[in-house]
Amino acid sequence: MKKLLDLMSEEFAKAFASCGYDGKYAKVSISNRPDLCEYQCNGAMAAAKEYKKAPFMIADEIVSYIKESGNTEMFSMIEMVKPGFINLVLSPAFLAGYAEQMAADAKLGYERSDATKRIVIDYGGPNVAKPLHVGHLRSAVIGESLKRIFRFAGDTVTADVHLGDWGLQMGLIIEQLRCEKPDLVYFDENYQGEYPSEAPFTISELEKIYPAASEKSKKDEAFKDQAHTATLKLQEGYPAYRALWHHILNVSVADLKKNYENLNVSFDVWKGESDADPYIPDMINGFLEKGLAHESQGALVIDVATEEDTKEIPPCIVRKSDGAALYATSDLATIIQREQDYHPDQILYVADNRQSMHFTQVFRAAKKAGLCDQTELTFQGFGTMNGKDGRPFKTREGGVMRLENLIASINDAVYAKIMDNRTLPEDEARQVASIVGLSALKYGDLSNQASKDYVFDIDRFSSFEGNTGPYILYTIVRIKSILNKYHGLGKDESGAVIGAAHSKSEKDLMLELSKFNAVMESAFEETAPHKICSYIYDLANAFNSFYHGTKIMSEENETVQKSYIRLLELTKSVLETCIDVLGFSAPERM
Ligand code: ARG
Repeated sequence: MKKLLDLMSEEFAKAFASCGYDGKYAKVSISNRPDLCEYQCNGAMAAAKEYKKAPFMIADEIVSYIKESGNTEMFSMIEMVKPGFINLVLSPAFLAGYAEQMAADAKLGYERSDATKRIVIDYGGPNVAKPLHVGHLRSAVIGESLKRIFRFAGDTVTADVHLGDWGLQMGLIIEQLRCEKPDLVYFDENYQGEYPSEAPFTISELEKIYPAASEKSKKDEAFKDQAHTATLKLQEGYPAYRALWHHILNVSVADLKKNYENLNVSFDVWKGESDADPYIPDMINGFLEKGLAHESQGALVIDVATEEDTKEIPPCIVRKSDGAALYATSDLATIIQREQDYHPDQILYVADNRQSMHFTQVFRAAKKAGLCDQTELTFQGFGTMNGKDGRPFKTREGGVMRLENLIASINDAVYAKIMDNRTLPEDEARQVASIVGLSALKYGDLSNQASKDYVFDIDRFSSFEGNTGPYILYTIVRIKSILNKYHGLGKDESGAVIGAAHSKSEKDLMLELSKFNAVMESAFEETAPHKICSYIYDLANAFNSFYHGTKIMSEENETVQKSYIRLLELTKSVLETCIDVLGFSAPERM
């Protein structure tokens, strides 16, 4: 469906053209004086200069044209206001017709204007065997929402978790294991047999191994050197370490999957840095043959600075002096792998703002080397999640907060609120708390512009009032409960249509609903989930005003009641579609 503003602008374009003025002046926008009108067209003001006429004369002509020859059904009020504005009020019947069309459309009126694309989204980015912490939360939450927005818009999306599974942490874990369990066959250089299929540790053991190893490496140089050597040996393919690495990977990935599932985050592919490794030797040879890379202080680098740069962009290092691959090497090789496997039009990376330089270097090196001529490489950076003190979020003891603990604390806060209201039995309250808690967490994050820092405030995020996830869910639950009551009486609204609004609050609700396709479009074009959040907050407010001012269940006129019910159904669909692309859902009761 066309956007409502476009329909109005088209109507005005016809009028401008028929009156002898350029259609470019015909833009209709939302009124900035809602006390006077709903929409306005200020084009006569601008046209006055070109046509050397008083703006009110032009506006008068346009108004008369539309009143006499235009779509007379569209507006219930159209008037010129001096010096030359045109104020508009939509006709309630026209608006209801638009809402009814939305209700009948599978995408609630959303229409894609450009060609769909094939996109790889690289988000999540957890590091194997290291616990997930809040830093990984934003990547998962934002990336998941972008994936869903793109899919809603019709793109073919491959979500890749891009595990950090190939770095020094692997060598650290191997060496720490050697200290703790020296008798394992993996450390017997003369061992010839098959390696066991069972992992020599559980997830909770594994979780302790990395922090211990990391601590030790800070104090013990020899240990750190051994870890480096073990990492190199693993990367060169030493069978014992490969076998051990597989165990680390499997145990850790099983745990990660569980964690992401709790976050309602899912990936299509679970590839990692290690999958890019086989592409590295040929890639480096290619760089050398083309004369793209050169030695600098023993390392191999690609210059990526340009004359237009306003700040220094250091060269992209693709091989260290000891021959080891780096983060950039693996990202470049991953681009080759993705080109081969998915032929994407775009690869989008969702990572911390602090990685912005890394991605600038990688993107430039990739383009320079011709690794992906047809592919757009984009970086969606995000800001830091801070505590109330304005500093990066920490535990009360000052340590790094683990994601699981963070989720648990928000669920507890929501649980306490539900129990305060005493509306649900205890076990249902627990279950509902985890659904509502997720909305608090995700909405709290996504309602901020992704690139900005934000303050994580459990009390505010978990409140059932105000601009929060729980408030949105509360509104949906309220609608569900009315619909259940209505249908519970054996009533049925099928065959009915949304009729012209009977009150201001009902019309305001329809006006909000009608913005859905435009909001989705801009959230998509600007990769901006926060636009969806602020929209559903406005929509929920509009619904609640309508609800408080309208007797829905006791309405005696059946046609009017059916029309209300259809409006409720549409409101519910729009809200549910929006929270679904944000990555959470509503319970039945709360
Ligand atoms: N594993 C990385 C980290 O924890 C994030 C990976 C982001 N994606 C990428 N292709 N570099 O910082």
